[in-house]
Amino acid sequence: MNPVTPAVADTAPHGDAVAVAAERRWAIVVGIITVCLVAMMVLTGLHWAAMPPSRVETVDVKTLHITGEFVESNLGTAMGADDKVIVRLVAQQYSFEPQCIVVPAETPVTFRGTSTDVVHGFIVGTTNANVMLVPGFVATFTTTFRKTGEHLMPCHEYCGTGHEAMWARVQVIAPDEFLARTRRGERVSCVSR
Ligand code: CUA
Repeated sequence: MNPVTPAVADTAPHGDAVAVAAERRWAIVVGIITVCLVAMMVLTGLHWAAMPPSRVETVDVKTLHITGEFVESNLGTAMGADDKVIVRLVAQQYSFEPQCIVVPAETPVTFRGTSTDVVHGFIVGTTNANVMLVPGFVATFTTTFRKTGEHLMPCHEYCGTGHEAMWARVQVIAPDEFLARTRRGERVSCVSR
């Protein structure tokens, strides 16, 4: 019995010390993970703050098609009076109007969109153009497409049975080509292709 008793007396405090050290290590690791996650949330929140609709701008869903900036003839890409490129679009179950959008590369492009029925949204390819379209509200954001090319623009808010078939295309063309194709106040389109 004698050799056993001191061994037990020895291991008990030693085991406690190991457990306390392990707890402390784990607490430090969890602390670091928590700080990293909070820092990530703060950084991305501040960095992307310019992307969501920056203010509340309402529009009447019932008169959207008849009057105002979202009448059909006013949709698509246009050069504004101040030489700013503006894309206006409307989402409805289950399509975007217009179906194809032309924008210049390396130029700030302002999107203005809304929905006529339920919540839709879109993302342009792998760019950071990503917005929710809520009926009754105008969503606005400005982005710059770095490279020319064609992107798919799918609806990314579940909006009903036709959701997965709801998408449009975005053609990013060279700024010179865009300028050659547009005249102030006129729409540029790639719909009838
Ligand atoms: Cu529109 Cu999903």
